[in-house]
Amino acid sequence: MSVDTILLKGKPVAEAAYERLKPRIAALRGRNVIPGLAVVLVGDDPASAVYVRSKTRAFQNMELVSETYNLPATTTEKELLQLIDRLNDDEHFHGILVQLPLPSQINSQTVLERVLPLKDVDGFHPDSLGRLLAGEPRYIPCTPQGILEILNHYEIPTARRHAVVVGRSTIVGKPMMALLANKWGRGNATVTVCHTSTPDIAAHTRQADLLIIASGQPHLVTREMVSEGVDIVDVGVNRVPDDSPKGYHLEGDVATDDMLGLAHAITPVPGGVGPMTVAMLVSNTVLAAEISSGAAS
Ligand code: GUN
Repeated sequence: MSVDTILLKGKPVAEAAYERLKPRIAALRGRNVIPGLAVVLVGDDPASAVYVRSKTRAFQNMELVSETYNLPATTTEKELLQLIDRLNDDEHFHGILVQLPLPSQINSQTVLERVLPLKDVDGFHPDSLGRLLAGEPRYIPCTPQGILEILNHYEIPTARRHAVVVGRSTIVGKPMMALLANKWGRGNATVTVCHTSTPDIAAHTRQADLLIIASGQPHLVTREMVSEGVDIVDVGVNRVPDDSPKGYHLEGDVATDDMLGLAHAITPVPGGVGPMTVAMLVSNTVLAAEISSGAAS
């Protein structure tokens, strides 16, 4: 039997999220508050530069403040911490984002922990992650939050289903696991987490009703590894070298074409999760501005 696989495109979901933010931004403007984000980019990783540009463009489109601090790859941890301290004290910035990965001479955890919890719009500070686990979230990491919005928009259920998450990063896998297992919100799933030490990932992915893949390995998941009717969220954005003028193309962690006619629904790459990560960053920054100006409910 063949099914018409639904493409879970992120753009309409992101547009709906921006529309919902507009009255909140207008209310802040009425109090002379314009949500502001400081973006810190260290080094010249080309993928990071693309991500940062798409984030700052979204802030421009919404007529919000965003400023990018571009530091050389040789920046020391001490220099970066000094910049974070300065941004923590700067009231124009309600949120601070340190683009990852950082160069190897810098301890990422030390840097992430230096960001004031109230300005941690990426949701990577232990304060944000602890609140999430405690069931009292403030800033939910943008990609998992965006994934929940996609599931919500396309009415993909999570409750009482078996969700399999592949990848255990702080950026996606771990917060995703917490959100899906939660009793509140769009949770109530039974969650399995697979990672690089899982001996037979396919044995787990075949059991999934809902599959969230954030492994960073192009086309890790193929047709033989899933069951018919599965809902798939592909978080992978892998640059695969080719002969095109650009020299590469983007591939997800899932072989999307493999899944057509088999999966119930799948997010495309690009155009699936990516736009949502950016929209949730804007959303978290608006929330940060509301909290710091006393407007949050
Ligand atoms: N690198 C890859 N994804 C992310 C993200 O969501 N936030 C930051 N700061 N860095 C990233």
